[in-house]
Amino acid sequence: MDKRTFLRNVSLAGLGSIAALTPLSRLAAAMPPQLPKDGSKEAFWAAVRNGYKLTPEFINLENGFYCIMPQEILAKYESHIREVNMEGAHYMRTVQATNKKAAAAKLAQLAGCAADELIITRNTTESLDMIISGMDWKEGDEAVMAHQDYGAMLDMFKQVARRHGVVNKLVSVPQDPESDEEIVRLYANAITPRTRLLMVSHMINITGQILPIRKICDMAHSRGVQVMVDGAHALAHIQFAIRDLHCDYYGASLHKWLSVPLGAGMLYVRKDHIGRIWPLFAEEGREKNDILRLNHTGTHPPATDLTIADAMNYYHSIGAHRKEERLRYLRNYWVNKVLDLPGLVLNSPRNPMRSCAIANVGVTGMRPADLATTLLQRYKIYTVAIDNKAAGVHGVRITPNIYTSTAELDELVRALRELAA
Ligand SMILES: Cc1ncc(COP(=O)(O)O)c(C=O)c1O
Repeated sequence: MDKRTFLRNVSLAGLGSIAALTPLSRLAAAMPPQLPKDGSKEAFWAAVRNGYKLTPEFINLENGFYCIMPQEILAKYESHIREVNMEGAHYMRTVQATNKKAAAAKLAQLAGCAADELIITRNTTESLDMIISGMDWKEGDEAVMAHQDYGAMLDMFKQVARRHGVVNKLVSVPQDPESDEEIVRLYANAITPRTRLLMVSHMINITGQILPIRKICDMAHSRGVQVMVDGAHALAHIQFAIRDLHCDYYGASLHKWLSVPLGAGMLYVRKDHIGRIWPLFAEEGREKNDILRLNHTGTHPPATDLTIADAMNYYHSIGAHRKEERLRYLRNYWVNKVLDLPGLVLNSPRNPMRSCAIANVGVTGMRPADLATTLLQRYKIYTVAIDNKAAGVHGVRITPNIYTSTAELDELVRALRELAA
C-alpha cells in the first residue's frame, strides 16, 4: 500500500476505531513497512495505544520492570487459561511438554539461535543463575562482571565465591565511552589466566546503556573466557540475533519487552556447553547435550508458555524495526528537551545509538526516592528511583513503551523543568 492509500484509509475509518475492532496484526499489515514521517506515523502509534487498557491514575513510565500486555495478548492469555483449565491434568500429561517445545522453537527463530540451544525458563534470574551456579568451578577460578550489572546475578556470583572460592573481579562501565574499544579494553584488563566466565549486560538496566557484546565476546574468546550475556532488557526491544553476538550463554525475560504474561524467560546455551552445566533442578534420563536437561522446573503455569507465540505475533505485526525506532524516538523526545538544563543530571549515554527506550535522570540535590515520590504525587508520573552507589547512578529510571504518547512525555518534561528550577 502506498502512502496516499494508507492516509486515505486512515482518514476514512480513523485508526483508533480500527484498532478497537480488529487485531493490530490486520492494521499493521495494511501499513507500509517504513512509516511515513508525517501525521500518519503518530496515528499508527495512537492506534497501538488504543489496543491497551491503561490506568487513568498515572502516566506509567516504568515499563522496565515488565511490559503490560495489550488487550490482544491479554485476551489470548485468558483463553489459554480457560482451555487448559477445561482439560486439567489431561492437558499437562499429554500435550503440555510438546507445546512448550514448539513455543521454544518459535522463540529460537526470533532470538536467532538453533531450537536445540534454547529453553523457556521463568525469568532472566533463573536463566543466568543456572549458569553461574551450574558451572564446574574450582577454587581460585575467576569471574568478571560490572558494578552496573543486575543485583540478583551479582548476588549469585557472591554466593559462588563463598561456596567454591571463586574470585570476582568487578569493572565499572563508563557511561559515555569514546568508542566500543574503550569498553572492550576495560573488560580485557580484568581478565587473567584464571578467568573462566565474563558476565556482561546487553542493556544496563539502571541507565539503559547498550554494550558492544560481539566485540566483548570475541575479545574474551581470544583469551579462552566464556561470556554470559544478561539480555533481560534487549529481547524484543532492540534488534539482534544471538548467533551474531558470538556469546556462550544468553538469558532474557519474556515478560519485559515481548509482553508475555509475567513469569516467562529464556536461556540460550551454546550446544557444546550444555553437557557441562549442572541444572538448578535435576533431571535424569536425558542425553548429556539435550538442553531440556536444564529445563526441569516442576509444575508451572502452561498458559504463560502458550501465550509466547501470541506475543511474538503481536511483536512481528508491530515490526521489530518500527518498535526499536519508536522507542528510541520516545527516549530522545524527552531527553533532548531537558539534556542541558542546569540542575538535571542525565545518567544515560548521550550518544542515542548507545541506548533505546530506557534512560535515567537525576535532579541535583534531590534524593532519587524523593524525586520519584514527587513525580508521582505532584505530577502523576510513575517512575522508579535508582540510588546505586557502587554504579554511581542516582536518579529515576524513565522507561516509556510503545503505547506512550508524546503528550505524556511533555508532562514529564514540564515536571523536570519545574523541579530543576
Ligand atoms: C539487567 C537485568 N537482569 C536481570 C533482571 C531480572 O529479571 P527477572 O526479574 O525477570 O528475572 C532484570 C530485571 O529487571 C534486569 O533488569
